[in-house]
Amino acid sequence: MTRLAALLGLELPLLQAGMGAVAGPALCAEVSLAGAGGTLALYKEAPERAARLVREVAAVAGGRPFGVNVVPEVSGPDRCLAQLRAVLPVLPGNGFVTSFGLPAADAVHAVRAAGRPLVVQVGTPDDADAALALGVSVLVLQGTEAGGHLLGGQPVGSLLAAVRDRHPDAVLAVAGGIATGADLADAVARGADGALAGTVFVPVAESTAHPRFKRRVVEAVAEDTLVTSLFDIGWPDRPHRVLRNSLTTGAERGRAAFIATTRVDDRAYPVPRYSAAAPGATTTGRVEEMAMYCGRSCARVTAAHPAGVTVARIRREYETARALPTGPHPRTPPAPHRTQER
Ligand SMILES: Cc1cc2nc3c(=O)[nH]c(=O)nc-3n(C[C@H](O)[C@H](O)[C@H](O)COP(=O)(O)O)c2cc1C
Repeated sequence: MTRLAALLGLELPLLQAGMGAVAGPALCAEVSLAGAGGTLALYKEAPERAARLVREVAAVAGGRPFGVNVVPEVSGPDRCLAQLRAVLPVLPGNGFVTSFGLPAADAVHAVRAAGRPLVVQVGTPDDADAALALGVSVLVLQGTEAGGHLLGGQPVGSLLAAVRDRHPDAVLAVAGGIATGADLADAVARGADGALAGTVFVPVAESTAHPRFKRRVVEAVAEDTLVTSLFDIGWPDRPHRVLRNSLTTGAERGRAAFIATTRVDDRAYPVPRYSAAAPGATTTGRVEEMAMYCGRSCARVTAAHPAGVTVARIRREYETARALPTGPHPRTPPAPHRTQER
């Protein structure tokens, strides 16, 4: 039991990242049922639909705690507050809220007034200071190994060391590079109270990522990812780690023509080339040219199981690694891990 697990009521000190186009009600509920912290992505969702999705999770999560994730930088502060006002009344009492980046003061106030723990992800020591000054319950420190948009420029190990040094009593989780229980145990041995992981949950059965996106994550090694600012339509000025594709290797930027369509509740949304939107299960078109967010941890993601099987595997590995006598725990060697997952 770590302070993160105790605070949020989890059996394993692991949060699943809210991920636009990937983390819907089924993934969130399954992760929570397995004892980790499932999280529903609200991204740009309309408030009424967001509330409906939260009710869907609550109906099947068996009373286990789960979270909702907001991205104020993308939704904008007004939509973010509207999302929170819509979901907080229907979020069960043991639910929590996660935010990608610092939320505005009124959003923080709404979460605190509802008595819910607020988990905020940052990428720099200065933003860590600012988040703690806002009174957040848990700080997630994102390193540059992470998949998706990057909040800072430091690898996770040095960021954790710097923030732990400044804030010995803060509840800290790391994000980036976590795909096995040994990775998690290593982070805890280095001073974290737990971790948040995204990439490892992209290929699982309940994820709503497009099948081709899932397959590419399973097949990828760390060098198949890169940090770029290419996919900036809808989310400018924020570098992101994605899988390489014909756009990232192309010599120059092409036309932002529509290349795909994503359906949400029977409405079709055109996707331009260089859009920040990731391909989901309802996306059709030139999926290979879209932003497939993926962290360097993909090297240790080697199969697509149900989420419960993945969480159970991480839990077994974590307990084994924590039971080792001393020192930082060795990372899971890739070869035996591959055998076990298949
Ligand atoms: C496909 C994908 C989509 C993501 N979308 C979101 C999101 O909507 N909200 C959010 O808070 N973080 C999002 N992230 C970032 C995660 O919060 C986290 O920083 C990252 O997944 C950690 O690195 P890892 O992917 O190597 O585990 C996303 C990550 C991935 C891989």
